[in-house]
Amino acid sequence: MGEPDDNNLEDKIKKLEKVVEQKDSHLRSLQHVATHYEIILESIHNVRNLVGAIMGYSDLAITDNETTKHNEYLREIYELCEHSKELLDAVLKPGYNPKKENNIDINEIITNSISYIQPLYRGKKKIKEYYDENLPKLKEAVPIYLEDVFLNILKNAYDAIKEQQEGFIAIRTYSEENNICVEITNTGPPIDASIRELLFQPFVKAKDGGTGLGLASCKQIVEEHGGTIEVTSDYRGFIVKFPDEN
Ligand SMILES: Nc1ncnc2c1ncn2[C@@H]1O[C@H](COP(=O)(O)OP(=O)(O)O)[C@@H](O)[C@H]1O
Ligand SMILES: [Mg+2]
Repeated sequence: MGEPDDNNLEDKIKKLEKVVEQKDSHLRSLQHVATHYEIILESIHNVRNLVGAIMGYSDLAITDNETTKHNEYLREIYELCEHSKELLDAVLKPGYNPKKENNIDINEIITNSISYIQPLYRGKKKIKEYYDENLPKLKEAVPIYLEDVFLNILKNAYDAIKEQQEGFIAIRTYSEENNICVEITNTGPPIDASIRELLFQPFVKAKDGGTGLGLASCKQIVEEHGGTIEVTSDYRGFIVKFPDEN
């Protein structure tokens, strides 16, 4: 057996390092594609929510004989279409971002989100609202994205209580330690124990017909706005917090 060929060994190591580097870069680009794909799916999921609301208001316009309300329904439908178009543009047009706004009133964002699920209730009020009228404004945000966050949470809450005669959703806003906070809870059964660990991961769900994309989208949007989302200690709701930068 001869002496090991050092040069040859060095070459081999260099070649292997190059292969590892290429694989690394390939993995990074795959991860990038996967994240992009996830965001696209979450956007489609959020547009689907809005389409549901458009159908709800259209149905109200068709079935409600009170013609004075028709203009109100049409305005909702128009705004929901505008909102959907912005979400689609953000996905389809490279570099397009829905407009950021300043001094956002979170209470107002929530009332908009509630209006999107209003047709589901058909007048039967099942939401208790406790707003902090002195809630600080959010310095900068994309309002439609925040509406999507609360719409997702409200839809989940609605699904949780829809079989309950006396069930309700409770919404509370408050400020605490330089945070603007929103708590949305409901009287339904708690979040299934089997999914609690990975709740905010895409495709994690315990509901027939669900997609598991709503909460993943909430987390994505809230974190993009510098905030946090967590489950309440009784697993019957969520607390969203945004930094108060005033
Ligand atoms: N308020 C809630 N009460 C009970 N379970 C919930 C609630 N919100 C979410 N979940 C559970 O978390 C899962 C993931 O929610 P989500 O990401 O919105 O997906 P989807 O609603 O499409 O199933 C749901 O399938 C459901 O099992
Ligand atoms: Mg959902």
